[in-house]
Amino acid sequence: MNIYANKNRYYFEGPMSHQGNYQLVSKSNASSFHRSRPIRKAALIFLAVVLMGIAAFSARGLGQTIRPGEVWLDDRGQPIQAHGGGVLKQGNTYFWFGEEREQGLDPTKRYVGCYSSKDLVHWKFRNLVIQLSDPENFGPRWILERPKVFYNAKTKKYVMYMHIDGPVNGNGGGYALARVGVATSDKVDGDYHYIRSFRPLGHESRDIGQFVDDDGTAYLIFEDRPFGFRIAKLSDDYLDVEKEVALIPMHLEGGAIVHYQGLYYAIGSELTSWSPNPNKYATATSLSGPWTEFKDIAPPETKTYGAQSTMMLKVVGSKTTTVIFMGDIWKPKTLWDSRYLWMPLTISDGKLSLPTPRPWKLNVKTGEVEVAQ
Ligand code: DGJ
Repeated sequence: MNIYANKNRYYFEGPMSHQGNYQLVSKSNASSFHRSRPIRKAALIFLAVVLMGIAAFSARGLGQTIRPGEVWLDDRGQPIQAHGGGVLKQGNTYFWFGEEREQGLDPTKRYVGCYSSKDLVHWKFRNLVIQLSDPENFGPRWILERPKVFYNAKTKKYVMYMHIDGPVNGNGGGYALARVGVATSDKVDGDYHYIRSFRPLGHESRDIGQFVDDDGTAYLIFEDRPFGFRIAKLSDDYLDVEKEVALIPMHLEGGAIVHYQGLYYAIGSELTSWSPNPNKYATATSLSGPWTEFKDIAPPETKTYGAQSTMMLKVVGSKTTTVIFMGDIWKPKTLWDSRYLWMPLTISDGKLSLPTPRPWKLNVKTGEVEVAQ
């Protein structure tokens, strides 16, 4: 622990703080701090209390800090490029896949980055698992967004779904095709081989989300512009979308689902392109519904604190279960500088809310979190 003096105020660098972000813990006159015995005694007692607090904090094994909205660097010191992404857990390693939007890449190609982590804080760059040239002659404006990877235990293949799009006969902007693409790999961070694109069950599909239920069944969530958003079960080999489970007649994208304490929670964002909006949630006891009406996950005027949902990640620990809201803070003019808003959600009795973003720590083993005050 460090104590910093500034303008006669004393700050300590406590467990949740870092460079320049210190908590004010006492305010006193600098000269009296050094001269007055009672104050020195009080300072010593205070120090002892703080040290005991830090010891207790470390004993809980809470790791380093996740800082919503700040630049998040990988093991190479480069900003993590995994936008609109998803996380897959294999053993005790998490793999984060997402859109790679770095500057200076080949503009004719689309890229997906893969990172790994044991603690969800420190991420190692693994590979550009997709470096794809226009795979089906869609034209120069073709689109690949929101990649999500499933592991199929039967075929032992990693199966990536992605939003594939582009104009149709030069029309419809870049978002007229409205398809999903599928690619596979034998290795989680290997080079994924593009198989094909299609409209799932014949429907338009733009933003996609992934959901794997506690019984291992894998679902694709997709936005079907004319109707709402759909939840559909994947085929046994995950290479196809087999059966619709629900159509929720709400025009929401960035769809995500979590199964928590016997309830399904679905979240999504309104259709406002790259601009943030109040993301919403509904609940159901069965994936097929009925789903409740949708409510805001955060005060609507915050527009989800500038973020858009991409996934809810359930961390089941030995002491508790934490559900992390994974959101993107898009910067449409400088997409490579888009940020992430990850925060533990507050969920209980069928109510879900996204707290005000603050630095926080997570212990992936126990599931415990600590949020800075
Ligand atoms: C909103 C979607 O959620 C993003 O993934 C992206 O497709 C933008 N629209 C493009 O405007």
